[in-house]
Amino acid sequence: MSNADQEEFWSTVAGRSWVALQLEMDAMLQPVLDLVLHRAALPAGARVLDIGCGTGASVLQAAEHVGPQGHVTGLDISQTMLDLARSRLKDHPNTECLKADAQVHAFEAHDYDALISRFGVMFFDDTTAAFSNISRALAPGASLTFAAWGPAPQNPYFMQPAKIASEVLGPMDKMDRTLPGPFAFEDHVRIIPMLQAAGLQDVLVDPVSLHLTPPGTVQETAEKMCQIGPAERTLTHYEATDADRARLVAALADWLTRCETDRGIEVPALINLYQAKAPG
Ligand SMILES: C[S@@+](CC[C@H](N)C(=O)[O-])C[C@H]1O[C@@H](n2cnc3c(N)ncnc32)[C@H](O)[C@@H]1O
Repeated sequence: MSNADQEEFWSTVAGRSWVALQLEMDAMLQPVLDLVLHRAALPAGARVLDIGCGTGASVLQAAEHVGPQGHVTGLDISQTMLDLARSRLKDHPNTECLKADAQVHAFEAHDYDALISRFGVMFFDDTTAAFSNISRALAPGASLTFAAWGPAPQNPYFMQPAKIASEVLGPMDKMDRTLPGPFAFEDHVRIIPMLQAAGLQDVLVDPVSLHLTPPGTVQETAEKMCQIGPAERTLTHYEATDADRARLVAALADWLTRCETDRGIEVPALINLYQAKAPG
């Protein structure tokens, strides 16, 4: 079965963390969603497909853009994430959620005018097969607009917790960033030919610098960082004690203090904003 590992990951460990931290994740990643929706420029009445919609923030906001005559379908492989998305979307009749693997789902042909995604397309075991399959769902010339993480070294939200956790707790195996995962689309020179092989046209990538905006205090953010991503993985790997965890929280807080501004915490990020047209 395609993407079985990802389905497992997003339905258990990762899905549960994203659900528990939905408010914080959505607040922190709102600048990325603003970027996607601004570049997608969804017209009123459009039918939109949101790939890897997670807990549904992007579905909700895209639905406001397309209005009551439009429609947004959020698709995700994780039942855990979709359960929360469905409850958030229940009073929005121009939305729906679909539990499916985007790489193999038997889409109706030519159903959608636009595709959007915030960080939902980097997890396919075969990117070209996935986008070929998704393309069948898109009207000829439909727009695709999606955000993926740019190069890891320019994304301290991942790199700093990984570095700090390894200093506090011990080293972790090096991640192969070309495999399905957050950085699979960091190298656009590798990814663009895969999208073109899927039949996509006018493929463009714009690296955009912005700031992630975690809500809450430095201490709260440091504690939340231990529940998701590299810090959580390192804590789990080393079966950390409460004392280890407290040392890690203190070290993360020390770094986050340096990201504090008079607007709150701002963590610099580099996003690869991909845009393309469906074949036809
Ligand atoms: C990093 S999360 C982003 C969630 C959401 N877009 C957001 O920004 O809040 C990645 C999402 O992609 C979903 N996903 C991963 N592989 C998928 C696949 N093959 N088909 C559909 N969704 C997938 C995961 O379940 C998860 O919800």
